[in-house]
This record gives sequence, C-alpha cells and structure tokens, in this order.
Amino acid sequence: MLDFSYSNPTRIHFGKSKLSKLNQEIPADARVMLLYGGGSVIRNGTLAEVRHTLGERYLSDFGGIEPNPSYERLSLAVEQAKAEDISYVLAVGGGSVIDAAKYIAAAACMAADGWAILESGGRCIIRTLPVGVVLTLAATGSEMNNSAVVTRLSTHDKIPFASRHCFPVFAILDPTRTMSVPARQVGNGVVDAFVHVIEQYLTYPVNAHVQDRFAEGLLLTLVELGPLALSEPENYEVRANLMWAASLALNGLIGAGVPQDWSTHMIGHELTAVHGLDHAQTLAVVLPAMLSVRRQEKSQKLLQYAERVWDLRGGSREQRIEQAIALTRDFFEQMGVATRLSSYGIDAGGIPKLLEQLERHGMVALGERREITLPISAKVLEQCL
Ligand code: NZQ
Ligand code: ZN
Repeated sequence: MLDFSYSNPTRIHFGKSKLSKLNQEIPADARVMLLYGGGSVIRNGTLAEVRHTLGERYLSDFGGIEPNPSYERLSLAVEQAKAEDISYVLAVGGGSVIDAAKYIAAAACMAADGWAILESGGRCIIRTLPVGVVLTLAATGSEMNNSAVVTRLSTHDKIPFASRHCFPVFAILDPTRTMSVPARQVGNGVVDAFVHVIEQYLTYPVNAHVQDRFAEGLLLTLVELGPLALSEPENYEVRANLMWAASLALNGLIGAGVPQDWSTHMIGHELTAVHGLDHAQTLAVVLPAMLSVRRQEKSQKLLQYAERVWDLRGGSREQRIEQAIALTRDFFEQMGVATRLSSYGIDAGGIPKLLEQLERHGMVALGERREITLPISAKVLEQCL
C-alpha cells in the first residue's frame, strides 16, 4: 500500500427525515445564500421545505446554476454574496450546484477575481465561507469531497480545483429527494459513480486489499442496483443504496493509499467544454476506449476486475480482459448512456480540437503513471468513434 494522510470532515445526515438537521447545522444568525439549479428543487418541493426549516434566517436566493456551472454565472453569485455579507452557502441540488457553492464560498473570501482559484487548481484558497449541502442527485460525490469543476464558457475551459478548505461542513442525504431525478440523470449518476471507482481502482496493484474490496463492493452495488433505479424509480432502498454508493465512490476513502488514474475524466472534461456532452456521457465514451488502449499496462487489475466484478473465470487472459471491457460498455448502454462519439454527432474531424484543448490545459502526461501523452490520447479518442 502507498503512504497516505486521510481526513474527511463532512458530517453526513442520511435518511428520510434528515432535512430538519438544517436547523441544527446552520447558526441561527447566519446570512445564508441559497443556491439551486434550473428549478427541479422548486418543482419537487425541496426548496420550499428548506426555506421553511431555515425559519427566520436571512436568505439570499441564487438560482439558475447550470449543469457544468459557469464562471460567468458564478461571478454574479460571488458579487451578490459579497454585497449581502453572506456568511453561509447552502447548496440544494446535484454536483453542479455543490461545485458552484464551493467556488462561491472560496471566491467570496478573496479580494482578487475568482478565476485565480481555477488558475491555481485551488492552491490559492486559504479560507472559505462554510458550505452545507442538501443533495438531490446521486452522482458526483461532491457532497463529501473537497473538489469542484467550473467552466469558463467564453474560452471553453472546464477546470477542476481542490482544496482542504472546500469540504462541505455537512451534507443531508435524503434518498426521497432523488425520486424525481429523470432517467437520463439516473443513468448519468450511476455511470459517473462507477467511473469514479474505476479511476481509483483500475490502475496497478499495490497490495491495498481493503481499498480493492471496498471498490469492488461499490462497483457490484452499482451494477446490481443501477438498472433497478431505472425500472423501479420509487424504490427507496435502491435509491438509498445508490446515494451512499455515489458518496463513498469519491469521498477519498477508496483512493487513499492507491495510485489514481483520472485520465478518462480529464479527456471527458474537454468533450463537455467543446461539445456540451453531459459529464457522464463523456465518461461512458472514453472509459471503454481508455481501458482498451491501456490493457497491457492495466492487465493485472483488469484481470482482477474481470473476475471479481464480472465473474469471468474461463478463457485466456486476453479474452477475459476483452470481455470485461465489453461488459463495462454494455452496462453503460443499459443505463441509457451511449458509449460512442458517433452517437453524439462527433466524428474524427473533432479530434484535433480536443487534443489542442488537452495541450492548452497541460493534460499531456495523464494516468496513474503519467504516461498518457497526447499521441496516446489521440489513439483513445480514435477508439471512441
Ligand atoms: O438544474 P436543475 O433544475 O436542478 O436540474 C438538474 C440538472 O438538470 C437535475 N436534477 C438534480 N436533482 C434533481 C434533478 N431533476 C429532478 N429531480 C431532482 N431531484 O439533474 C440535472 C443535472 O444536475 P447536475 O448537478 O449537473 O448533475 P451532477 O450531479 O451529475 O453534476 C455534474 C457536475 O459535477 C461535476 C461535473 O463535471 C459536472 O459539472 N463533477 C464534480 C465532481 C466533484 N465535485 O467531485 C466530480 C465529478 O467527476 C464531476 O466532474
Ligand atoms: Zn465524474
């Protein structure tokens, strides 16, 4: 196992009746910025309940946060937070709203423009306003981690940042809030969580038995329950297990003491920045191609994955690896997420622009061994067609 330091300070309140914890978590005299997206939390009643629970506290609304939140829109929120002397940021929504909250909470404490956060990957953050979360979509794990991704629309830059100051103070995970999530986002959420586990698991062995078994448990849970969330959207136990699986997939636990890849995510970010694909759509396209191109370097873990997640025991090593990759692709398709660039109207002509973006963002040595250079990314993208 590799050396590691690990801390996750986010308090989780999990279950049907946990919205009431807001009252306990947020100080009575807090000046709260209430952040939300395009209106789903208005339609499903969550926002009204949040307001009611917050009672007499000063509330400053900021809605309209887009999927893949933009620097342009968030800059308006930062201005509002500063002007209204906000002391607490509460995200009510999915990963985009939570990421937005982290950015706003950090930028509101800075004299300089918030773009510095993205330019420094979060290293310039020395303090933030406290962030709380009411999660409505099981997917990113942002509710329990210290990272976020923000897009500058004017320049097609989708940039991640992280800081130890960016963990939410608390997150309320009430699975009933996810019942209204449409099938497309259910599929996206399962695929995103699945790929988060893979990025931390499917690298090379370092004798991290606990992390491997945890990761495999999460993958098996997603494979078993993901399709059920589509066929039985009102099934509480399914929603509850998916919600917790998605948080555990990216709260640092399974990634401590192991090598991490993240090349699929970095290439995926460029696909979103240039072509507007949903985050999980990019992952469903890139991951099978990435595993295929990197099958040699990842062979030991691919064989372990084939056996323990897909129960593949017969045939040659190469056949088992091939089958595991094919089953991964089938699973994404089963979740309703297409796995070929052609399904999104992108052909080979789009590849040079994506490579140019990767180069511009310094994504020229990706993967667990930093071996994925631009020519290898090009090969991966060709296999995505
Ligand atoms: O905007 P509203 O109207 O709220 O609708 C949203 C949005 O259209 C809808 N939705 C959310 N909860 C719902 C609901 N619809 C009905 N009922 C509900 N209960 O779902 C749509 C997608 O929401 P979004 O927040 O964008 O989805 P997700 O949670 O997948 O977040 C994606 C963003 O997170 C970033 C991605 O890059 C992307 O920007 N990521 C953040 C990570 C992190 N912080 O650790 C890691 C991930 O790899 C990812 O990069
Ligand atoms: Zn992701």
